[in-house]
Amino acid sequence: MCGIVGYIGNRDCTDVLIDALSKLEYRGYDSAGIAVFEKGTIKVEKCKGKLENLTNLMKIEGRPSGNCGIGHTRWATHGEPSDINSHPHGNKRVSIVHNGIIENYRELKEFLSKEGYAFESETDTEVVAKLLDYYYNNDPIDTIIKVLADIEGAYSLGIIFRDFPEHIYAVRKDSPLIVGLGEDENFIASDVPAILKYTRNYYLLNQDEICDITRTDVKICNVRRQTVKKEVQTANWDIDAAEKNGYEHFMLKEIHEQPSAVKMTVSPRIKNGLPDLSETGLTPEKLSAYNHIFIVACGTAMHAGMVGKYVIEKLARVGVTVDIASEFRYRDPLICENDLLVVISQSGETADTKAALELGKERGADTLAVVNVVGSSIAREADMVLYTNAGPEISVASTKAYSVQIAAMYLFAFELALVKEKISEDECREYVQALSDVPDLIEKTLETKELCQMAASKLLSSNSLLYIGRGLDYALSMEGSLKLKEISYIHSESYAAGELKHGTISLIEDQMPVIAVVTQKELLDKTVNNIKEVKSRHAMVVLVMSESVKIEDGVADFIIPIPETKEVLMPCIAAVPLQLIAYYTSVLKGNDVDQPRNLAKSVTVE
Ligand code: G6P
Repeated sequence: MCGIVGYIGNRDCTDVLIDALSKLEYRGYDSAGIAVFEKGTIKVEKCKGKLENLTNLMKIEGRPSGNCGIGHTRWATHGEPSDINSHPHGNKRVSIVHNGIIENYRELKEFLSKEGYAFESETDTEVVAKLLDYYYNNDPIDTIIKVLADIEGAYSLGIIFRDFPEHIYAVRKDSPLIVGLGEDENFIASDVPAILKYTRNYYLLNQDEICDITRTDVKICNVRRQTVKKEVQTANWDIDAAEKNGYEHFMLKEIHEQPSAVKMTVSPRIKNGLPDLSETGLTPEKLSAYNHIFIVACGTAMHAGMVGKYVIEKLARVGVTVDIASEFRYRDPLICENDLLVVISQSGETADTKAALELGKERGADTLAVVNVVGSSIAREADMVLYTNAGPEISVASTKAYSVQIAAMYLFAFELALVKEKISEDECREYVQALSDVPDLIEKTLETKELCQMAASKLLSSNSLLYIGRGLDYALSMEGSLKLKEISYIHSESYAAGELKHGTISLIEDQMPVIAVVTQKELLDKTVNNIKEVKSRHAMVVLVMSESVKIEDGVADFIIPIPETKEVLMPCIAAVPLQLIAYYTSVLKGNDVDQPRNLAKSVTVE
């Protein structure tokens, strides 16, 4: 969702802002803008569309020249993507950029209208800009505190005041914001990749902390104006992690990074051949006491949770409920003490997942966050954190984050199964060894690239297709289908193969593509029967299956064989061709692979 940046220092501010915003493009956006101090005035340039439109606009209107300013990429919520609705908002005296939603903006707008303010845009953000102007008393921090007392909702804000041209002000609540710390220069940003080129050091802001940033100093206080001391965080990613490094798209790069990402997640959690999650605070005593496990997440992370459910129930024999976060929070779930709530999130900022976490805590459950972004809101709020160590994921369509999330689910399931005495130590060692070998198998699976490209070429003319599988293959099919929808814009559904004939099979018509996943041998015959059912109705079947599986000729039109490991671990392997099929379909259709339409990488609003 929206990206915020800010810069104060000796460099050309417009250059830095545009460069930093380009590093936040992955978040998804539909307009962009900057506000820069130029000779004592605030100069604003903003427009609908990509950053390129903004740079082109500045070629015509002139680029602001100065050393201090703020910038924004907007993902429309209130009001369509348009020049007027783009950020920054404000007037000659104050200019702001905002990420989040001001929930009580209607009543504030009514109040301000009565006070004589006229509104240009349809945004909730403009209300904050006008409110800052309304309360302005030559004391920026006091003014901001007064505004914070009036606004409700989620926000991170970057603010500049005409009368304070050597300062950027920033505040956050429920939306991410960091303060980058350079030498004789400082930054604000929604995420680390925006500042990595300039500095690795940054502060993480907590709820309602207000910063006053100059080129040599960062002062932070709370809403009572008490000074807050911060620890400097250091990003451990190198700059290459946020660059394409010769790959055509971030998605392809991230697909190829899966072997190392899984290794980074798994290796540090193995001690003497057994899983060891003690760093999270998950002790054997705690694990043995849990009655039920809830796994809650959104999108791809929820699909990783589905894999987790199958594996935990199979190996540890503990009941698991998987919920979509936006449903969980409103369905009054039966979660209580003695339950464990596992929330999974790449970004650690997804609003619905965060709300689910809060609900679980309120109900007295223990909470474990499986999160990729260090220091993110969800990581900070959960009782325990298992970081997935995948490095930055830039492509909106999640790939390596999914693989590491399921790797984390395996580690958790193995340890729980051992503690609950459902598997022996020897069996556990075998599982752990097999999981450690997965990175090499993923590497081998990447060799199916060309086959996947051919399979993709067969999907291009379809408006709709199905993914089918049973058990773990069904859990995986859900992710395959989501990937394809996200980036190819072709409609698809995932179905439990056995459920097809209870309705959906009526959709099958001549040459409709059906992608079947078969990695669970126990279910092989059953799934093959389901494949035959669609084949005999003239579907075009693409089969992703374990390489040793033997099936009769004519069952599938196109087969992608994949290397094998223990069956419970097969989703780690089979995910790869499904990702590649989606990727190549998107490429062949000429879509924007890394920034698909309408999507945001991190959904920080409900
Ligand atoms: C958005 C993204 C998805 C992602 C989901 C959950 O919808 O477009 O790719 O899976 O959010 O994100 P999270 O950061 O919580 O894993």
